[in-house]
Amino acid sequence: MSWSPETVARAERIMQRYPERRSAVMPLLYLSMLEDGYLTDDGMREVAEWTGLTPVQVKSVASFYGMFKLRYTGKYLVSVCTSISCMLRGADDVMAAVEDEAGVPHGETDDDGVIAVEHVECIGACGGAPAVQVNYELIEGITPEQARDLVRWLREEQPDKIVADDLQERFGGTRSFDWAIRETEGAVGPFPAFGPYGTVAEEDRS
Ligand code: FES
Repeated sequence: MSWSPETVARAERIMQRYPERRSAVMPLLYLSMLEDGYLTDDGMREVAEWTGLTPVQVKSVASFYGMFKLRYTGKYLVSVCTSISCMLRGADDVMAAVEDEAGVPHGETDDDGVIAVEHVECIGACGGAPAVQVNYELIEGITPEQARDLVRWLREEQPDKIVADDLQERFGGTRSFDWAIRETEGAVGPFPAFGPYGTVAEEDRS
């Protein structure tokens, strides 16, 4: 057993929700990624033991989905949507600006371990294209120049908390629509810093 007592307790709570052990493979993979920062071979073996799957079966799931990371990913993951709506609104130039400013191409992390870059398929913000996420917090209507500012700001400030509305005000352009309710929680801590593993109050976590 290599997981921390807190992770084991969370895994036990997750397992209670799944009559079929193997159905818990994906939430347990997220849990393992939170524990180690990415999916290590040991972490995937741990998930295999919990779910009754073989390590190969677990890895086949992990390697299929882009949000599971099989190697170290920077403190901030900058994801640039390059699907059709964003592409038509200049996403390729945004991607080039992010890669150039970060100094690394798609799928890589900079030498300092601060910025990781990836292009992704549609992230559901087509109305606000081109769209970018930082640790899955959304920015809409971003320009290449704003994307450069974003990467520089992340590297210099290294904020503890990433909040979509704040990013939008600093680096965004036209939004798809007024989301009305202001977000306050955001992503806390380094990647992977998304709910329910780090973005909601402890009492609300599963
Ligand atoms: S195509 Fe970019 S958010 Fe949908």
